[in-house]
Amino acid sequence: KHIAIFASGSGSNAQKLMEHFKRNNEAEISLVLTNNPEAFVLQRADSFEIPTHIFDKHEFYETDEIIDLLKNLDIDLIVLAGFLWLIPEKLINEYPNKIINIHPSLLPAYGGKGMYGDKVHKAVMLAGEKEGGITIHYVNNKFDEGEHIYQAKYRIEETDTLEMIKFKGQQLEHLHFPRIVENIIKKLKK
Ligand code: GRF
Repeated sequence: KHIAIFASGSGSNAQKLMEHFKRNNEAEISLVLTNNPEAFVLQRADSFEIPTHIFDKHEFYETDEIIDLLKNLDIDLIVLAGFLWLIPEKLINEYPNKIINIHPSLLPAYGGKGMYGDKVHKAVMLAGEKEGGITIHYVNNKFDEGEHIYQAKYRIEETDTLEMIKFKGQQLEHLHFPRIVENIIKKLKK
């Protein structure tokens, strides 16, 4: 089976997926897509010899080019890994329950438009939360509101810095995301 990853930034989660599926027969990462020509994820993809595609707002929201590309590559599952744009309705309809996202909080807390990256961890820290976590969920037409697939938690100590909170979340993401993606792909019928 074939997976496409959408990412806008560093792509450390994308990298974990690339590593995982390099040594796994269930699926391959066939394409990495980004809206950001500067995204480090592009270099990560290159080092795994995975094709990449850079697109702009017009292409994403006003043409069928991306859907055509995904269909041509026979993509079965779309994985968002730090992708910051809302997925157009049309793409959701083409891939019902086949688009998943990872978010660095225990949704529904600390989710929604504008809640991404460090902003999430800062908000969690400022609120004095005793625990943080990650959520892997299906994607619908609202930011961070699709059905949950998996959540994992970590403890926050009073002395934890922003960096430490971020690190704890990232460790959980890297540990669980590849495994959960594999479970989902196994259940998909061809
Ligand atoms: C992750 O924290 C993920 O939960 C969120 O964006 C971040 C992406 O980090 N959606 P990276 O680019 O995978 O390092």
